[in-house]
Amino acid sequence: MSDQSTVRIFDTTLRDGEQSPGASMNLSEKLEIAHALVDLNVDIMEAGFPIASPGDFDAVREVAKSVRGVTVCGLARCNDKDIDRAWEALKHAESPRIHVFLATSAIHREFKLKMTKEEIIGRATAGVERAVGYCDNIEFSPEDAARTEPDFLCQVVEAAIAAGATTVNIPDTVGYATPMHMGRVIADLKNRVPNIDQAIISVHCHNDLGLAVANSLSAIENGARQIECTINGIGERAGNCSLEEIVMALRTRSDYYQIDTRVHSQRLVPTSRLVANITGIQVQRNKAIVGRNAFAHEAGIHQDGMLKERTTYEIMRPEDVGFAKTDLVMGKHSGRAALADRAKALGYHLNGEQLQTVFEAFKKLADKKKEVYDGDIAALIEKQITVISDVWSLESFDVSATSGAPPTVNITLRRGEESITQGFTGGDGPLDALFRTIEEITGISGVVREFRVHSVTRGKDAQGESTIELEHDRVVYRGRGVSTDSVEAGVLAFLNAINRIATTESADA
Ligand code: KIV
Ligand code: ZN
Repeated sequence: MSDQSTVRIFDTTLRDGEQSPGASMNLSEKLEIAHALVDLNVDIMEAGFPIASPGDFDAVREVAKSVRGVTVCGLARCNDKDIDRAWEALKHAESPRIHVFLATSAIHREFKLKMTKEEIIGRATAGVERAVGYCDNIEFSPEDAARTEPDFLCQVVEAAIAAGATTVNIPDTVGYATPMHMGRVIADLKNRVPNIDQAIISVHCHNDLGLAVANSLSAIENGARQIECTINGIGERAGNCSLEEIVMALRTRSDYYQIDTRVHSQRLVPTSRLVANITGIQVQRNKAIVGRNAFAHEAGIHQDGMLKERTTYEIMRPEDVGFAKTDLVMGKHSGRAALADRAKALGYHLNGEQLQTVFEAFKKLADKKKEVYDGDIAALIEKQITVISDVWSLESFDVSATSGAPPTVNITLRRGEESITQGFTGGDGPLDALFRTIEEITGISGVVREFRVHSVTRGKDAQGESTIELEHDRVVYRGRGVSTDSVEAGVLAFLNAINRIATTESADA
């Protein structure tokens, strides 16, 4: 019988989370998140879907090679090619897991797979058996389980366990379940599948009805001991169960659930910020646990109550989820060790070379701006992490714009040893003119779907962060740029998106 005394946290930020539109990450960004997940002490991280693309394969292999003390999982459809490829990527992991999935609901059987129930059972069994040939930690997911006929779901789960699955994951793929329903599905499996005690029951809830966390809690009450979730709840469509919410719900209501996870909750806010910065998907201010307002008390009565006794209006302490008491201010006299310390507290792992580059950028920034805040440091580090994939870099630009006349721009980009300068007069304002000129030089164009500029920290001299979503060949690419000059931030964001397109296209070529 498997250990039932804790709830395992299976993080799928790098796989399902990356399936959020515009959230694709490069290898160094994925590694950064993988290390942060180790610090957070998750039990299992799903690093990707190795057969999906060469980039996914490399990410799973590199994560598998570089993290320790955590199980690394790779996703595979239920066929030999997928499973073999998953193992190829995972084989260097200290603790590998192959995650095999096959849809089981009537809708998927009839319209997607065109397979009978018997064929599904046969395929699931064969897939799990093939994976067992490689390693002894196998997860099986009957996709769209929440809409699968209960009797058939029991049969598939029994067959998967008999074939060697050590975890059976019950996905609510389309976010259709409600808490009582999800609880009943798990109770049914516990009561009716004869070999269920030989596996851990897991759930993977999507948030289409805003119920992913509630459904996961209900599953735990009925015997689930693994929760699949993502940082900030990112993922397909409305996303997945949010890791920070499920962890804090169990911890805060330990009186009721009497079961906990191994997560280091003080790492929740730094990890949330890291994932938001890397994916460009910022969390809303009122997001539970990690939102900026999660612990902000506005009403006078609440503030008065808080001053008298904190627990009148607060069920958790901000420091327990990783909100720093103060935003530590650094300046030009701060040294490399202090910077390394701050970077670590913010959730980043910098190697010596990266630390040196960030330190040099920090010194330049501290010359321009008296006080350097956490947000500034995070922005500098992000720049360093993403710069690795740069094909094109910005050398210089100039703009002359007067109201009522088209702007004139000149921009110089570098690619390797080559430096290209081009000018342009026209367009809908200076940024539009600069973007068009970049498209002309790089030969890569796209449609701007979203463009934002906001300040990273406070003060008039604050750095501006620009984020962009650029659609190219029906794929949305994200870009991000940071500078004390907001036009430069926009240009860097556009170029960052162009670089993502360039690197994706060269990897796929
Ligand atoms: O939502 C889903 O069903 C999935 C499976 C691959 C587990 O992501
Ligand atoms: Zn999913």
